[in-house]
Amino acid sequence: MKFDKPATANPIDRLKVVGQPTHRIDGPLKTTGQATYAYEWHDPDLAYVYGYPVGAAIAKGHVTAIDTDAAKEAPGVLNVLTTLDIGDLPKGEKNTAKLFGGSEIQHYHQAVAIVIAETFEQARAAAALVKVDYAAEQGAYDLRAAMPDAETPEPSTEPESAFGDFDAAFRGAPVTLDAEYTTPDQSHSMIEPHSSIALWDGDAVTVWTSSQMIDWWRSDLAITLGIDKEKVHLMSPFIGGGFGGKLFLRADALLAALASKAVGRPVKVALPRPMVPNNTTHRPATIQRIRIGAERDGKITAIAHESWSGDLPGGGPEVAVMQTRLLYAGANRMTAMKLATLDLPEGNAMRAPGEAPGMMALEIAIDEMAEKLGMDPIAFRIANDTQVDPEHPERPFSYRDLVGCLNRGAEIFGWEKRQAPGLRREGNWMIGLGVAAAFRNNLLVPSGARVRLDNRGIVTVETDMTDIGTGSYTIIAQTAAEMMGVNIDKVEVKLGDSRYPISAGSGGQFGANSSTSGVYAACVKLREAVASKLGFNSSDAIFEDGAVRSGNRAVTLSDAASDEELVGEDTMEWGDLSQTHQQSTFGGHFVEVAVDIATGETRIRRMLAVCAAGRILNPITARSQVIGAMTMGAGGALSEELSVDTRYGLFVNHDLALYEVPVHADIPHQEVIFMDETDPYSSPMKAKGVGELGLCGVSAAIANAIYNATGIRVRNYPITLDKLI
Ligand code: MOS
Repeated sequence: MKFDKPATANPIDRLKVVGQPTHRIDGPLKTTGQATYAYEWHDPDLAYVYGYPVGAAIAKGHVTAIDTDAAKEAPGVLNVLTTLDIGDLPKGEKNTAKLFGGSEIQHYHQAVAIVIAETFEQARAAAALVKVDYAAEQGAYDLRAAMPDAETPEPSTEPESAFGDFDAAFRGAPVTLDAEYTTPDQSHSMIEPHSSIALWDGDAVTVWTSSQMIDWWRSDLAITLGIDKEKVHLMSPFIGGGFGGKLFLRADALLAALASKAVGRPVKVALPRPMVPNNTTHRPATIQRIRIGAERDGKITAIAHESWSGDLPGGGPEVAVMQTRLLYAGANRMTAMKLATLDLPEGNAMRAPGEAPGMMALEIAIDEMAEKLGMDPIAFRIANDTQVDPEHPERPFSYRDLVGCLNRGAEIFGWEKRQAPGLRREGNWMIGLGVAAAFRNNLLVPSGARVRLDNRGIVTVETDMTDIGTGSYTIIAQTAAEMMGVNIDKVEVKLGDSRYPISAGSGGQFGANSSTSGVYAACVKLREAVASKLGFNSSDAIFEDGAVRSGNRAVTLSDAASDEELVGEDTMEWGDLSQTHQQSTFGGHFVEVAVDIATGETRIRRMLAVCAAGRILNPITARSQVIGAMTMGAGGALSEELSVDTRYGLFVNHDLALYEVPVHADIPHQEVIFMDETDPYSSPMKAKGVGELGLCGVSAAIANAIYNATGIRVRNYPITLDKLI
């Protein structure tokens, strides 16, 4: 099915199941320990063994020799594979850094060996006996130092934009801001580390893994192993978080496949937690310069956003300027990105790549500008709202209610109680309120599904879509139930298996809208199959209460499929509605903080997010996405930072003891409100994504609240105590 006209009324609009607050259908499996996460697959007839990886101790250079003698003689060890033994392997298309094979080291903790033993403990102990010799080279590890050499990245990343005459308008503006902001390298820090089990059957391999994107992994694993894609079977039905860290094939899956081939047994490989931040990908640090010029009435006349980030050769920029092209009006504008070559681990997507760090900077700048103008920061944002793409005024937003989000949030949060900076005290605590806009684009990705109807009246959905904790199982079941007119308990959902139709996967907050649209398309096909079987006209057949009616005939779905299973399969393809109309999601983040006057400790006291993101398919799972994102934004504002050792090129704090994510005690009352909205341009579901919107702007709202509490403007994240005293 191709979606190329705005959606009209369709069965989803009944909202008997879709849009209803529905607890996750996979919740009982998870809470009773029966959900089969990658490392936990267990077949009692198989003798699993364990692989423990060894990571490079240099950031750049070559491995000259690996001595595995002692490791091979250690108890329980079956084999040791080294990167030298394996030799160069083709790199997957989606990977920037190679994962394993050959002598070249591109980044710290790149896998150089895998020890395979009967038990995990034996493998780990023997891994410590592997001796690796290196010829190290000096790399570039310091973004600030590399800035002068940074270059404009590939045109495919849309590195620059310019409209009007920014320089002249900025020079002529009566009120201006020119400030620099920095965001650090961040780690996804999902609960479940990257984990896989691999088992060969002849020339075909099955890998149970933890992947956001089944088809991307399948293709890249096949390329790297040098086998046909059809010979790779991937399964990833449950995933303990991803945040972008599991978008691309990772070393655990490759090492498990190579190790299993070597020992002829099923091999389990999990990346040890201390290896995750340097072995995998991370959100790259940015240095951002923002200039804004405005008239005294608050109208922006000039806005410029430049961003510098680094990556390995062949990598791309953190696209931190993207939201600045779309969020506020202003006739004279420019954005630019510059990319430095750094020999740190691979920088890549982490939840809301681009907008998350971009909004961390832009939304402080907007707060600063409002203050210079003597305007309320909400009023300043509203004064510069736009209903059209400011760079392409002929392109309207499909739906944009930023103003509604800000006004509603202000009312609920008690914004009118906000005082001038530094005035509000409660004992030792300085109290402040902060606000930021939320913005994230809405992306559309083709998504396929197969839907079966059997003689029990059960509807089974099969798609390689993943559920990374987001609620995919549940919203897909809701979609199929609504389309087929059955209760949700009559729907079974099977996800995360490469034998199923290729889906959008989980990324870029496109998963919910795209994957349910694919299920919608497949259900349209199944409805046609049912109607045709019964001799009904599919255009007037009504699917309701477990039956299908046409005229005065009604047949239960189980009867319709009594003698043969009926199947519908289709892929949702997207027309150019996202070209004719700018599709984005909007919101407002509100935060109250208390800052200790003596220690500089910040405590978040209240958080509110008001989100406008099309139809909300399930208010419970959507809310969970947003409160999780707000929590991540709290970490980004206050604690999360991968510390770069600029001498040796590694992230020093590579575990959860020193890379500090928020814990329960850090998180106060959180409230989430969704605007009542449907977007007919987004899909037949009329939905968009919220999982990344919930993050974009939060950290700036916290920074702005800290400023309101203390009068101290911190432009370098995270806002740790030392920056306030
Ligand atoms: Mo998201 S960073 O595309 O998983």
